[in-house]
Amino acid sequence: MGAFVGEYYLWIKALHVISVIAWMAGLLYLPRLFVYHCAAKPGSELSETLKVMERRLLRAIMNPAMIAAYVFGGLMLVIQDWSAGWLHAKLALVAAMTWLHHLLAQWRKDFAADRNARPQRFYRIANEIPTLLLIGIVLLVIVKPF
Ligand code: HEM
Repeated sequence: MGAFVGEYYLWIKALHVISVIAWMAGLLYLPRLFVYHCAAKPGSELSETLKVMERRLLRAIMNPAMIAAYVFGGLMLVIQDWSAGWLHAKLALVAAMTWLHHLLAQWRKDFAADRNARPQRFYRIANEIPTLLLIGIVLLVIVKPF
């Protein structure tokens, strides 16, 4: 396995970055849809349209992209120096990002069942979290400060 990863390392890294970009696009867009959904009357045409958009974004883009990010990132882990501090810190931020993905999936179910009780402000704040995690993750993995 190590020899395979070593030989195709740059291909694997490129596929990792592509899948991460797709995952990030969903993590940034879904809470934005929730902000609009808070203003839509339950049962209205807008609310039903947003439900379809949210379901497709999560199931057709975010879930496959997250799995691909893990598969290609996991392959690269095979030949990483596991004592590296930047790697521990990065994986901790990735765990936080994965938890946020899980929460977004839960909140989507609330909107789908017309039982969302959180205000727009809640989702505006949630919309900032992926950006902060992204900045931390990219600085850690490229600069490797420790
Ligand atoms: C899902 C679990 C993830 C794992 C197991 C993982 C693991 C890794 C590993 C081992 C590398 C190679 C580091 C190197 O060669 O120097 C890497 C590269 C990279 N990762 Fe991840 N990663 C994950 C998620 C993410 C996420 C969520 C982001 C951004 C939001 C990200 C951004 C990057 C970038 C930009 C690179 C390329 C760095 C370079 O070219 O030096 N990764 N990742």
